Amino acid sequence: PHFILIGNQILKWYGQNARELPFRNTKNPYNIWICEIIFQQTRIAQGMQHYENFVARFPDVKTLANAHSDEVLLYWKGLGYYSRALNIHKASHQIMNDFGGVFPEKYEDILYLKGIGKYTAAAVSSICFGKQIPAIDGNFYRVLSRIYADDFDISSSQAYKYYENLALEMIPSNAAGDFNQAMMDLGSEVCKPRNPLCSECPVQENCIAFQTGKISEFPVKTKK
Ligand code: ADE
Repeated sequence: PHFILIGNQILKWYGQNARELPFRNTKNPYNIWICEIIFQQTRIAQGMQHYENFVARFPDVKTLANAHSDEVLLYWKGLGYYSRALNIHKASHQIMNDFGGVFPEKYEDILYLKGIGKYTAAAVSSICFGKQIPAIDGNFYRVLSRIYADDFDISSSQAYKYYENLALEMIPSNAAGDFNQAMMDLGSEVCKPRNPLCSECPVQENCIAFQTGKISEFPVKTKK
């Protein structure tokens, strides 16, 4: 019900409240790829200096591909999950060898790169290439499950598909990149896991969980 209305409210809120982040000034897929890998698992405030240092030392695919993996790891120091850095490095070789050094534009080609899953491929595709693809992460699950007081189990293996279908109904046309980033900001700044700031939420009046006083019951997660 009124998916498009809610999608537009979220997009409008983003227009007025988007966080000012360095990587929001670019649509360069290399930069967006690196930032998505870092910030999917690390908080913005914690990872920003690493991001800046990383893209300053390795400003493009070729520079990264030519670097030694020890140096790539050095720039990752402090972020943890070091396989992320090694995968980025391997993917830079894939881009050099299989795509002539040019970051691929097709969703399937992006998904084929080492360390890139559906979320990252969707984020890069939508932000850099204008593709109408939702980038589904925990923020998405939480925001949507609350708006619809939806008890679909987010720890189930079908959750991605389920929320992808829901999201596809909501994304305003030609705005998936902004819509995806709106969901990231809304989920991390307002519709937080604990103590959400519902009074600042653009969809408060359409949020079934809020209207029925059940915010704390969503999202539903059964597995540990
Ligand atoms: N976390 C991961 N990617 C992000 C983005 N593009 N904007 C805000 N937060 C993010």
